[in-house]
Amino acid sequence: MSLTTTSIPPLHCICRGSTGPLLLLVHGFPLHHQQWIHQLNYLAANHRVLVPDLRGLGQSPLFPGQTQVTMEDHADDLNALLDALGIDEPVHYMGLSMGGYVAWQMLRKYPARVRSLVLCHTRVIADTPEQAAGRFQVAERTLEQQSAEPVLEAMLPRLLHAGVSPTIGEEVRQMAYDSPINGLAANARGLALRVDATAWLSAIQIPALAISGEYDGISSPSEMQAWSAKIPGCRFISLPGVGHLSPMEAPGLFNQTLTELASW
Ligand code: MLT
Repeated sequence: MSLTTTSIPPLHCICRGSTGPLLLLVHGFPLHHQQWIHQLNYLAANHRVLVPDLRGLGQSPLFPGQTQVTMEDHADDLNALLDALGIDEPVHYMGLSMGGYVAWQMLRKYPARVRSLVLCHTRVIADTPEQAAGRFQVAERTLEQQSAEPVLEAMLPRLLHAGVSPTIGEEVRQMAYDSPINGLAANARGLALRVDATAWLSAIQIPALAISGEYDGISSPSEMQAWSAKIPGCRFISLPGVGHLSPMEAPGLFNQTLTELASW
């Protein structure tokens, strides 16, 4: 199979690597494909790697008139992307945070598409009513101000821990600013609407690895360890010294944890 970077509908997608297992890397919010920059070349040496921008983020615009993008919508888009690329074989799915929320919907709707799971810094439970209301308010303010700032004000304190390099904060800011304003708002709403996936975990029958970070303030190691234990055979790792964004914060350490992919 030959893969080329594509902006064909439905999504913008970077495609790298010509041989080896097929990986799909799905970013978090308010990020885009650049979140995986340190994994792309590393993995493309011996994998075929697909790195899309989820709808409304990076270079993947919303559909006309679209005001929210749910995790199910993202899964539908990824399925359509794989169709558009002519891919029939199941992918090794690696998702960070929102990319993990989308994984639950991929497994529910398109289980034959997924061959293994790497679940990074992610959760299975839904937002509390207060958290969901906060995200809807952020969406409103984003649209009123026509700026990424309301999203960044809400998200940066959650995404970054005290010891993280300021460069990481700048990279997150840049990714939010790269995205369409209406896409940021639509994704904030979609996050608020996501459902609890806990009941689905025990039925997962594919290899799975859950990667957490010592200082992750969104998906704590204890929370990730508890839900990953419900996935049969899922291995859990907590990386020392990192927070919610280990692929960006500590790429060498993060990439080392992926060696077991080779046996899947
Ligand atoms: C993400 O990194 O995708 C977001 O932090 C997810 C969230 O806010 O729940």
